[in-house]
Amino acid sequence: MEKTLLVIKPDAVERKLIGDIIQRVERKGLEIKALKMERITLEKAEKHYEVHKEKEFYNDLINFITSGPVVLMVIEGENCVQIVRQMAGSTSPLDAIPGSIRGDYSVDLLKNIVHTSDSVESSRREIKNFFRNVD
Ligand code: CMP
Repeated sequence: MEKTLLVIKPDAVERKLIGDIIQRVERKGLEIKALKMERITLEKAEKHYEVHKEKEFYNDLINFITSGPVVLMVIEGENCVQIVRQMAGSTSPLDAIPGSIRGDYSVDLLKNIVHTSDSVESSRREIKNFFRNVD
């Protein structure tokens, strides 16, 4: 069964949005297979965002994602990669539609509340980086 990674980022944890975001996932009818709260190490953050290494915002991104605790969860369900991406909303605050997580809670390109895997392939790589016992 398809799986995806959803990360509730430090801005959302600080703004006490963990419950809201978990509730959206549950109400949608998706299965939460694993869930934990931790502060991401620099090593894991660099691995997670290695595709953005050359981007001008890379250092800000690494500093932000390691700035405080995050909540990581593995979600399972048919087509869940695309479904959870739609629930998160577009990265650009100009495109994130109200009703989506980012559309409801963020106007910031960097501090954008959640991360979700953008493909089945990257979800496998990302889940492996953070969860040892989920395959
Ligand atoms: P995420 O889905 O975690 O994937 C990469 C992250 O980089 C993205 O969410 C944003 O937090 C951040 N990001 C993407 N584009 C920009 C940008 N132009 N400026 C600053 N941060 C960005």
